[in-house]
Amino acid sequence: MSRVRQQLHRASTLSRRASTGALALTLVGAALATASCSSKSATPAPEVPQLTLEQLRDPEECARCHAEHYASWSLGMHAFAADDPLFLAANARGQRETKGALGVFCVRCHAPVAVALGLTTDGLNLASLPKATKGITCYACHSVDRVDAAHDAALHYASDGVLRAGIADPAPGAAHASAYSPLHDREQLDSAKLCGSCHDVQNANAVPLARTYAEWQGSIFAHDTPTTKLTCAACHMPGHDGPVASTAGAPTRRVHDHSVPGVDLFPASAPAASQQRAAVQAALDPALSTKLCVQGQKVTVTLDDAFAGHAFPSGAAYHRRAWVELVAARAGADVWSMGQVPDDQAAIATLGDDTWLLADRLKDASGAPVEQLWTAASYTSNVLLPAVTNDKTDPRWYHAMVRDVTVPVPFDRVSMRVRIRAVDYDFVDDLIASGDLPAAQRSLVTTLTLGSSVHVWTTAIGVGCAP
Ligand code: HEC
Ligand code: HEC
Ligand code: HEC
Ligand code: HEC
Ligand code: HEC
Repeated sequence: MSRVRQQLHRASTLSRRASTGALALTLVGAALATASCSSKSATPAPEVPQLTLEQLRDPEECARCHAEHYASWSLGMHAFAADDPLFLAANARGQRETKGALGVFCVRCHAPVAVALGLTTDGLNLASLPKATKGITCYACHSVDRVDAAHDAALHYASDGVLRAGIADPAPGAAHASAYSPLHDREQLDSAKLCGSCHDVQNANAVPLARTYAEWQGSIFAHDTPTTKLTCAACHMPGHDGPVASTAGAPTRRVHDHSVPGVDLFPASAPAASQQRAAVQAALDPALSTKLCVQGQKVTVTLDDAFAGHAFPSGAAYHRRAWVELVAARAGADVWSMGQVPDDQAAIATLGDDTWLLADRLKDASGAPVEQLWTAASYTSNVLLPAVTNDKTDPRWYHAMVRDVTVPVPFDRVSMRVRIRAVDYDFVDDLIASGDLPAAQRSLVTTLTLGSSVHVWTTAIGVGCAP
């Protein structure tokens, strides 16, 4: 079975899972629809009042007819991008330490509409701005008509009152003009440009800090081959059949999930935190293909980034810490371990060179490790790479990483799991130490386990691999 078919299978499994989750939202949407858009007959709708430009920027206005899109978007990091306490703290510190030279660097991705409207130049006044101008709003994506560069949010907003997506024949009854756009059509490779421009970050030292888009461009998913082609939105915005608007007579189309669960979590105090966490866990669980095999004292661990369209971890890999944990036991007592990280300590503080850490590290001009983006002059990276070729004779075809570990003492059981933190204590404590974040915010660090990475080998299995 080809890896690609496996990948496609996994992508469609992910889609199905996500659409089941969205089902409950559909019901909410339908209820709202009956309550608000109470057209009684199939006669042509009367002139629908059109939203002003200011209203078009406000996600609350969209909820009236696109309740399901609004609900799923509200459950994701896009809605939260300018309220993220770590973002606010790090931006404030960056403005202070660079004496304002940081400028719009951070906010042009985290609050693109506020920047486009000239409402902020440094993000320090976000608390006083209307909610509709903050975060990656509906308008931040749907009014883009051009992407000018492959990094740092080089998005052009048309400001012509037209909302763009993948529908070429929009039904009547909308409160806005609509247009088809390949930048928003998840079947088109061009749609990766929209996501990619924000998901590749380069700082003023031209260091490519986040490289998700570049990684995707080098993968088999960016090839225009029907069997492997998958855009960002094809994997991250699965759909289910249904009306995309609650207006009378709206046809059945694909309703795409907008919650983009990844690794990062809402703070536990946020109203939808438990729902968001469940979505992230469901996305993370199958993220890797892993194996644990034992022969004598030798334990072999295989990690394969088989299902992501880019590295794992990706994006903010400079703050991300993922690692392999192995625990060997004998007669019911633990006798050896590797990669056991206490819940209240940074992974990099506890993991030695002989462990397996997946992460980027930022360095300043002198080569010393740093946490904050504007100070980075270079980086080192140790992450899993995606599939880059379909050609089995190409040495790069097998891209899984394999490691042998010799357990120095006898054992009769070994357990394995891959753990990940979206952000770790090194970054958070660095912001607490500089006075930009209250100490109580240490609780923002959460350790997650990838469900499919949990394996247990016992002597009953003998020489071979754990299920
Ligand atoms: C009065 C109802 C109504 C409101 C309010 C409304 N829409 Fe729509 N929208 C529609 C209808 C109807 C369609 C067409 C649906 C179809 O063709 O199946 C549509 C289509 C769209 C499309 C698809 C465009 C295309 O051609 O691919 C997008 C994107 C969209 N709306 C976004 C929004 C956003 C963002 C808001 C809030 C600013 C909003 N809508 C407010 C009714 C509405
Ligand atoms: C990160 C960018 C992004 C944001 C933010 C965003 N959308 Fe979308 N939206 C998309 C993409 C991509 C599609 C998929 C279009 C396709 O492939 O046909 C889409 C599709 C749609 C459609 C067309 C029906 C469908 O499901 O394909 C509607 C309506 C829509 N979005 C409404 C909204 C509303 C309302 C919001 C805010 C609450 C919003 N979107 C926020 C990117 C975005
Ligand atoms: C080019 C767009 C872009 C720029 C510029 C940018 N970010 Fe982000 N930021 C993102 C994206 C995309 C993510 C999500 C990526 C991920 O989670 O893998 C993110 C995630 C984050 C997070 C949450 C996860 C984490 O790793 O901490 C914080 C905090 C953050 N950014 C702070 C900042 C600060 C502070 C700046 C300016 C120094 C900044 N960002 C500049 C796009 C950007
Ligand atoms: C073949 C499917 C696929 C494609 C294509 C894809 N992704 Fe992903 N992506 C995944 C999987 C699987 C994960 C890991 C699961 C998770 O993080 O919950 C992931 C994770 C992420 C994350 C979280 C960061 C991390 O550390 O893992 C971001 C951000 C992201 N993807 C953005 C993108 C963008 C932007 C693109 C397009 C340039 C893209 N993805 C293309 C499947 C895909
Ligand atoms: C205007 C900039 C922008 C655009 C366009 C954009 N994103 Fe994002 N995205 C962000 C930022 C900023 C965050 C992180 C917010 C935070 O954590 O504070 C993010 C977060 C995410 C995450 C969650 C990452 C994690 O670690 O949990 C995923 C997945 C994601 N985006 C996918 C997409 C996809 C797919 C598209 C295109 C349809 C897209 N994004 C378009 C800026 C953008």
